[in-house]
Amino acid sequence: MLLDVQNLHVSFATRRGKAAVVRGVGFSLDAGETLGVVGESGSGKSVTGSAILRILPRTASIDEGAILFEDRDIAHAAEKDLRGVRGPGIGMVFQDPLASLNPYLTIGTQIEEGLRLHRGLSRRAARTAALAELAAVGLPDPEGKIDSYPHEFSGGQRQRIVIASALVLRPKLLIADEPTTALDVTIQAQILDLFRARQKELGTAMILVTHNLGVAATLCDRILVMYAGMILENGPCEEILLRPAHPYTAALKKSIPAGEPGGRLFSIPGAPPAPGSAPEGCPFAPRCAFAGKGCAKFSQLREVAPGHATQCGKVLAGEIAQEVLS
Ligand SMILES: Nc1ncnc2c1ncn2[C@@H]1O[C@H](COP(=O)(O)OP(=O)(O)OP(=O)(O)O)[C@@H](O)[C@H]1O
Ligand SMILES: [Mg+2]
Repeated sequence: MLLDVQNLHVSFATRRGKAAVVRGVGFSLDAGETLGVVGESGSGKSVTGSAILRILPRTASIDEGAILFEDRDIAHAAEKDLRGVRGPGIGMVFQDPLASLNPYLTIGTQIEEGLRLHRGLSRRAARTAALAELAAVGLPDPEGKIDSYPHEFSGGQRQRIVIASALVLRPKLLIADEPTTALDVTIQAQILDLFRARQKELGTAMILVTHNLGVAATLCDRILVMYAGMILENGPCEEILLRPAHPYTAALKKSIPAGEPGGRLFSIPGAPPAPGSAPEGCPFAPRCAFAGKGCAKFSQLREVAPGHATQCGKVLAGEIAQEVLS
């Protein structure tokens, strides 16, 4: 097992006290596996990813739980002990490539610096590796472009450069948080293809954070559905899409645009609870057409098929989900 997140609780300090935004999240990931983390805005996807990278804002704290990366708990490790983790252990790619690139340094310098620092390569070896990686991510004319600055590239090219600078260190795990959201649709598809290809070649495990279940479905082996800081469902990608076992997952699936022109878009009525104000019990219950008395009590995740678990306490959760879909 590469990563094992156990009962993770993260909160933010606010003027009105602590607001819990990740509430008991647990999952694990094997080497080379791809996990999609999906859910509406504010569900705690990015905070979960940032906690694993230990790049949470100062106002946030990990209150409980463990994050075992290669059997070492990094949830509470000292900053100096994280140096070998971030970068060479766990790489990261975010929505806005400009935020990850230094505007004052050429892309070559940035990629080579990482290699010299984390892999101890000589200047010349670092340049060779950087050129090879830029070619591998499909940047046109790497030799001619390696001494250019970030602003000299298009958005899609910049994201390729960010992916190259993460993958060139050969991390065991890549956390990609909405890596294609800022790009237009055709470029999005190209970048998703790139992830798929490079991941296969390198065997990198990946956590793909996205609000788009369709995007997760194209890349992921397993999908984890988050809502109000909790996991509502977790399972193999196909199972989640074909046999969802939580009404929320079904509603999310229903809101993926089917692509036909003029097709009606479904959106889930209501809004997720604000941090700190989720109801007792199933957090989705107030928006769930099938909620009943039992939903006021929180149900633990239970298996409905091998490796497929739902938090929905209804015995007929699967049938209910199908009804939401229809
Ligand atoms: N710096 C912060 N200070 C206070 N609260 C925060 C901060 N960052 C996030 N939160 C809160 O934590 C909760 C989870 O946020 P998070 O960014 O993880 O959501 P998300 O699922 O990634 O949503 P999105 O799809 O919009 O990116 C939200 O309610 C958000 O308001
Ligand atoms: Mg986010």
